[in-house]
Amino acid sequence: MSILSPPPLALPVRAWQALRTRGPQYTLHKILRRSLSRWPGWKRRLVYADPRHYWTMRGGYDYFREQEGQAARTDRIEWIADRIAAYRPDSVLEIGCGYGKLLRALRVRLDCPLVGVDFSPTQLAQARDFLSDSRRVDVALASGARLPFADDSFDLVVTSAVILHNPPEVAERIRREVLRVGRRLAAHNEETDQSYNRYGYDTAAWYRERGAALLECGPIPADSRPECSQFCVALIPRDLPDAPDGRRV
Ligand SMILES: C[S@@+](CC[C@H](N)C(=O)[O-])C[C@H]1O[C@@H](n2cnc3c(N)ncnc32)[C@H](O)[C@@H]1O
Repeated sequence: MSILSPPPLALPVRAWQALRTRGPQYTLHKILRRSLSRWPGWKRRLVYADPRHYWTMRGGYDYFREQEGQAARTDRIEWIADRIAAYRPDSVLEIGCGYGKLLRALRVRLDCPLVGVDFSPTQLAQARDFLSDSRRVDVALASGARLPFADDSFDLVVTSAVILHNPPEVAERIRREVLRVGRRLAAHNEETDQSYNRYGYDTAAWYRERGAALLECGPIPADSRPECSQFCVALIPRDLPDAPDGRRV
């Protein structure tokens, strides 16, 4: 599959193409995303309010091509994959796997079962295509806030630019699911700054406040904005304080 970008077309032509290939909902989403740059408050409300809808519209081949065209994205994923592989996990779950870029980089480094979930059907369809020649990589449609796996199913659970897209109560459920389905390690690449398209969380602080041991924590050197980037790996604790709703994890 070619990842070379064709020359940019005029907006009306692109809108017409989007309408023909992906329908009116996608076209409206794309027009709003492109045209509201000067009104971030409206952009947050109209385009990013529902993360699952956003990623269903945003995901797919266009997003794949855009990401694969940026060398910095590849450098960042390669760096994260190296760090994760250093812990020699015997199974890995990636929550919010997108089109499978990290899973593919992990496959090159690790020989254990790799599983990815994502709540966007368009991202997942792209992942199935992108990972079609990767052995022992399974992907499934699921929300990170409610994973279809038993407790302690995976040696290492990773999120990369996922929790930050979710509002605080959902972000909290995802973190609790990481600890529930993970056995040994939780790894996170989550930016800490807030903007109109992300909530931004200090994930390392979340673990520290709960007394969990961090094996590493710091900025990602390959990131274009290292001051806002954070990669951390925590030892999954046996017990954590009750969730705000009183539920035990
Ligand atoms: C910025 S992309 C990152 C993809 C991949 N982790 C990577 O680093 O290349 C964010 C992905 O997380 C997924 N996502 C966000 N929130 C999620 C949630 N609550 N449950 C499942 N997937 C989620 C989106 O659908 C999207 O594919």
